[in-house]
Amino acid sequence: MEKRKIQTSARSIDTQMRPEDVKIEGSLRPKSLENYIGQKKIKESLRIYIEAARKRGDCLDHILFYGPPGLGKTTLASIIAAEMGVGIKITSGPAIEKPGDMAAILNNLQEGDVLFVDEIHRLNRQVEEVLYPAMEDYCIDIMIGKGPTARSIRLDLPHFTLVGATTRAGMLSAPLRDRFGMLHKMEFYDIDELTSIIMQSAGVLKVEVEKTGAVEMARRSRGTPRLANRILKRVRDFAQVRYDGRITEEIAVTALDLMDVDKMGLDHTDRSILLTMIEKFSGGPVGLDTLAAAIGEDAGTIEDVYEPYLIKNGLINRTPRGRVVTESAYHHLGLEMPQ
Ligand SMILES: Nc1ncnc2c1ncn2[C@@H]1O[C@H](COP(=O)(O)OP(=O)(O)O)[C@@H](O)[C@H]1O
Ligand SMILES: [Mg+2]
Repeated sequence: MEKRKIQTSARSIDTQMRPEDVKIEGSLRPKSLENYIGQKKIKESLRIYIEAARKRGDCLDHILFYGPPGLGKTTLASIIAAEMGVGIKITSGPAIEKPGDMAAILNNLQEGDVLFVDEIHRLNRQVEEVLYPAMEDYCIDIMIGKGPTARSIRLDLPHFTLVGATTRAGMLSAPLRDRFGMLHKMEFYDIDELTSIIMQSAGVLKVEVEKTGAVEMARRSRGTPRLANRILKRVRDFAQVRYDGRITEEIAVTALDLMDVDKMGLDHTDRSILLTMIEKFSGGPVGLDTLAAAIGEDAGTIEDVYEPYLIKNGLINRTPRGRVVTESAYHHLGLEMPQ
């Protein structure tokens, strides 16, 4: 039998984009609202606004999506452009260094285009200031000449829709945030939705998956489509190498256990966050920075990537004095909660 190792590296379930995702995400990314599963409230409101804008022959208001990585922000931006029948230009906050770069991007847009700015909270201040008049009045002010003869002229831009995405809405400056007409918080997906996503992706990848196998993978996907797809791919490899390729519940369970993803979708970093809080800080409250130092992880990563899921599942609570672990966390780890 061919020997291929299931990758069990540290972060098998980290939700950030990885090189291995790039290849498959393109093909698995839904291309229409119709095939975009879950996020019902967002979809409904987008449908209405898209239809209204199309009827008026106008472009859509600027939209901000915020929430943890892997929940479908980039995907939605492309879908919006497709549904509006316009082009999309994709860039990101850290990629735009100078105001002139932003001005050039804006000036090169076609009428009606979507400009997608990922990690928009990382735009620097001067670049951000170019966006204000652009978002409000579709124009930019540029300086001509130098010294005493310098003057500023106003340049009209094509109408466009700015779609911003961020994992940290709190870090967006108020003037920028206020210029978005729609702010949408992305929610974690439930097991049913993730099961549908896995079945849909299995169809694209031409993998046979039993419903119970899909449910098992969904349960351990941390409410995150990107992970659901990654897990599907890993489990498929496992099923192909060790079995006949069909993913049953039993195969899914065995493969996921090998990947060190537990029944709730927690990996060893999640568990180490909980265990550290319990063992070193008696369950809390403990401040984010202290906790980060104790487990040797970046505070921002804990806040954006790990904590939201732990909070959502009632394993951690945020209090004014810091984070505390809950009784469910003790329970999940098989520990007794001290009185
Ligand atoms: N609602 C959804 N339905 C189906 N697949 C989805 C959905 N949201 C995300 N995905 C899948 O998850 C992957 C990651 O989504 P992405 O839009 O890149 O997340 P984000 O930009 O929020 O980090 C996509 O490639 C897509 O395959
Ligand atoms: Mg993205």
